[in-house]
Amino acid sequence: MENSEAKKVIFSGIQPSGNITLGNYLGAIKSWVKLQEDYDCYFCVVDLHAITVPQKPKDLRSKTLELLSIYLAAGIDPEKNTLFIQSHVPAHAECGWLLTCNSYVGELSRMTQYKDKSKKFGDSIGAGLFMYPVLMAADILLYQTDLVPVGKDQTQHLELARDLANRFNNAYSETFKIPTGYIPKEGAKIMSLQEPTKKMSKSDENVNSFILVMDPPEVIRKKISRAVTDSVGVINYTEEQPGVKNLIDILATIKGENPFDIVKNYENLGYAELKKDVADAIIEELAPIQARALELQKDKKALEEIYRNGAQKASYVANKTLRKVQKKIGFIPR
Ligand code: TYM
Repeated sequence: MENSEAKKVIFSGIQPSGNITLGNYLGAIKSWVKLQEDYDCYFCVVDLHAITVPQKPKDLRSKTLELLSIYLAAGIDPEKNTLFIQSHVPAHAECGWLLTCNSYVGELSRMTQYKDKSKKFGDSIGAGLFMYPVLMAADILLYQTDLVPVGKDQTQHLELARDLANRFNNAYSETFKIPTGYIPKEGAKIMSLQEPTKKMSKSDENVNSFILVMDPPEVIRKKISRAVTDSVGVINYTEEQPGVKNLIDILATIKGENPFDIVKNYENLGYAELKKDVADAIIEELAPIQARALELQKDKKALEEIYRNGAQKASYVANKTLRKVQKKIGFIPR
């Protein structure tokens, strides 16, 4: 914790709704592991967000702990960072409400994720899905966050967080730091293996469209071998060949190499060779994480100590901001 005052602050989170995909890992967790060395990081399991869609209580409990174990297994150090579960810090829900009262229905209706979901569910779409970007803004703003490492799909929500912070600061005087997004150069948008113009998503009905962080090696191999490519037959890194491009992106992100350098290795080779290398790279990357995560899940006491300490550290910082916000709004101090 020494030096933490001088370090810039990072906040990010993942929903424990269902299983964590390779997209979540490459777009978020993998870059967090690098950033933890230089920033004061808050990494959260955002369970309040997960209940925007129905969750079975038993599954929510196990997925929350599984996600925490994946953070740890991927190399997030609980001593250096604050790891916690969102519902353990009630300031998130409360600040969410205070910001809700400074948000417009119009701006929330324009969120593309909401628009997509409302097409599917119509009038019976949950109100939580509509409000969720405001809660996300509260998550970020409570920690006076400088940087938010997320995949590309979250940029619109981040923009809203900035707007809400600016609006509040203008209405009541400087209160929130204005956060900036950190979108990784590689891996920011891993696409569906079956429809490579759509992002890889855990809520996809087709299980062959995503790889899960906890998928066993033979399943990973099968899903990659079935990944949709094209009839061009040559390995190029171009939007015209979205399936092949996605496979190269996955390989480039795992290896930390430039996609165009990767293409050079496949000059006279075909899709089968590329797919084999992609599957090997994913398995090599995920196997140690899977083993560690399963090990960590056995020790419930150790996990409990981590999330309790994390909630304590997070609450201290979040409550400080929340008190400021309450006072500026005109609430009587307790
Ligand atoms: P969620 O749980 O949908 O996704 C978690 C993280 O994974 C990234 N991601 C991807 N990156 C690359 N390719 C993909 N196919 C892919 N799919 C998902 C997301 O961009 C995200 O970084 N609202 C957030 C959770 C959240 C949050 C926050 C994030 C709540 N509060 C505050 C940052 C800060 C969400 O639903 O992410």
